[in-house]
Amino acid sequence: MTRIFESFASKGQVFRSKHVLQLSYVPERLPHREQQLEQLAGMLAPALRMEIPSNILIYGKPGTGKTASTIFVGSELERIAAEKGIRVRFVYVNAGLKKLTDTEYRLYAYLANLLGRPFPHTGLPTSQAYETFAQSIDDQKSIVILVIDELDVLVKKNPDVLYTLSRMNSELKNSKISIIGITNNLNTLSSVDARTKSSLSEEDLIFPPYNADQIADILRERSQEAFLRDVLDEDALLFVSAHAAKAHGDARRALELLRVSGEMAEREGSNKVNREKVAKAITKLDSDHALSVTKTLPHHNKLILKAILGRCDEPHLFTGDIYEGYEQLASDSGLTPLTLRRVSDILNEFDSMGLISSKIISRGRYGRTRAVSTKNLSSLRTKLERLLIHA
Ligand SMILES: Nc1ncnc2c1ncn2[C@@H]1O[C@H](COP(=O)(O)OP(=O)(O)O)[C@@H](O)[C@H]1O
Ligand SMILES: [Mg+2]
Repeated sequence: MTRIFESFASKGQVFRSKHVLQLSYVPERLPHREQQLEQLAGMLAPALRMEIPSNILIYGKPGTGKTASTIFVGSELERIAAEKGIRVRFVYVNAGLKKLTDTEYRLYAYLANLLGRPFPHTGLPTSQAYETFAQSIDDQKSIVILVIDELDVLVKKNPDVLYTLSRMNSELKNSKISIIGITNNLNTLSSVDARTKSSLSEEDLIFPPYNADQIADILRERSQEAFLRDVLDEDALLFVSAHAAKAHGDARRALELLRVSGEMAEREGSNKVNREKVAKAITKLDSDHALSVTKTLPHHNKLILKAILGRCDEPHLFTGDIYEGYEQLASDSGLTPLTLRRVSDILNEFDSMGLISSKIISRGRYGRTRAVSTKNLSSLRTKLERLLIHA
C-alpha cells in the first residue's frame, strides 16, 4: 500500500494543472467562436444604452461552446457596464440541474435568492412565489439578462414558466428583463404556444460543430497549461481531435478524453500520453457511458438490451431477431410485450445514445429492416449482463 501511494506521489510527471481540463474551467480565449462571440455581443450591446436587448435563442450540439461563450460575453458585458456606471445584471441558471425545474416554485425561489431576496422556507402559493421573484428583478433597477441554459428541460417540465417570463416586462417598474435560452435541440420550442415561441426567439444564434482542426487548436491551448512539457505528443492530440470531431464536434468530449488519457498515463507511472493511451481512454469512457445509461433505462428497454446481449456473438442482428428474444423475455416476466414498431423506435434511441450502431437496410420486396451491429457491446457484455440480471 505505502509503495503504491509513494510511487504515486513522486510521479507527478504528467499534469502541470489538471484543473485546466475540467469542464467548469473557463478559458481566457475561445478560439473558433469569434463570430458567435461577436454576434452575441452585438445583440446584447443595446443594454449599454439602457435599451432592452432582444430575447435570444442559442442552438447547437453538446460541446460546441454555447455555455462557455455565453458566460464569457455576459461577464464582459457586466464589466464594461460597471465601468460606465450602467446598471446591467447578468444572471445564469442551468435548468438541467434536476431540482430547479421540478416545480415553478423552485425556479422562482432559486432566482430570487440569487438576486438577494430571501425566500421563506415554508411554501408560498405559486402566485406569491412569482411576485417575490418579480420583486427581486425589480430590486435590481437594472437591465437583467437572464440566461436559461438547457432550456429544453424547462420546456418539458414547466412550459408555463416561459409564458410568464416572456410577458414579464409589462409588469416590471424599475427593471427590464431579457432572456437568453440555450438548447441542444432545434425543436425545443415546438410544443410552446406561438406567441411565447416567437417572443423567445426574437434572435437566433447557431453554434456549429467544431471540425477536427478547430478542436486541435482548442486542445493545443488548453493542453499547454494542463500538461507538463513533452508529455502529450502531437499525434495523440490529433487522434483525440479526430475522434471528437466524429462525435458531433464535441469539445467537451475532447477535453474529457485528454484528462482520462493523462490519468491513465499517471496511473501506469508513465510520463507520455500517446495514441495508445487515448485509445484506452476512449474504451473506458464508452463503457462508463454505456453502463450509466443502462442503469436509467425503462424496464422494457432493459429487456430489449438484454435480448441483444443474448445474441451478441452474431455480428449482425435484425430487428426481427431482437424482437423474438425480447418477446420471450417479456412474457417470461409476465409482461405484455411492446409492439414491433415501438421496439424499432427504441433501437433507434439506443443508436443515438451510442449503445449500439445500426443502419436501415432494404430487403427488396421484404421491405426495410434495421441491422444492428453489436461491436460496441461485446467488450461490455459481462458488466452489462450483471447490471441487467434482475431486469
Ligand atoms: N472554442 C473553445 N475554446 C476553448 N474551450 C472551449 C471552446 N469551446 C468549448 N470549450 C470547452 O469545452 C467544454 C464544453 O463547452 P460548453 O460551452 O460547455 O459546450 P455546450 O454548452 O455547447 O455544451 C467546456 O469545458 C468549454 O470550456
Ligand atoms: Mg452547455
